[in-house]
Amino acid sequence: MYVTLSTIGEKQYPSVTNVGMRPTVSGKDLRVESHLLQTEFWETPGSMELAFLHRLRDEHKFDSIEALRAQIERDCQKAVRFFGLMNKLRQDRRPLFEPFDLEIKG
Ligand SMILES: Cc1cc2nc3c(=O)[nH]c(=O)nc-3n(C[C@H](O)[C@H](O)[C@H](O)COP(=O)(O)O)c2cc1C
Repeated sequence: MYVTLSTIGEKQYPSVTNVGMRPTVSGKDLRVESHLLQTEFWETPGSMELAFLHRLRDEHKFDSIEALRAQIERDCQKAVRFFGLMNKLRQDRRPLFEPFDLEIKG
């Protein structure tokens, strides 16, 4: 489960993406499923590009679809916080994806 940025056409959309077998619903094939945090699509886009920004958790087998839904809701909240932090870094005019200076002590 990842925080992702989906590019559809010219626009980028914050999203969360699951890469896995969907054990909760006994899925048999590997799938990549993205959920856009702010949806404005009423039709399935032809293609999209995904950038994986942050790993949130492993895929789990939940006891019920409701439990899975509740977890995805929490995942979305974490992703919103992640994107909020990215925006804050932007406002501070600090670079987003340059490597951090790591000070290794000892
Ligand atoms: C953000 C996200 C996280 C997911 N996490 C899990 C998971 O942890 N375990 C799981 O079994 N399925 C997970 N799924 C897949 C769901 O089981 C799947 O989307 C749902 O069953 C609907 O499948 P369907 O479109 O084939 O009906 C996730 C899907 C999304 C979009």
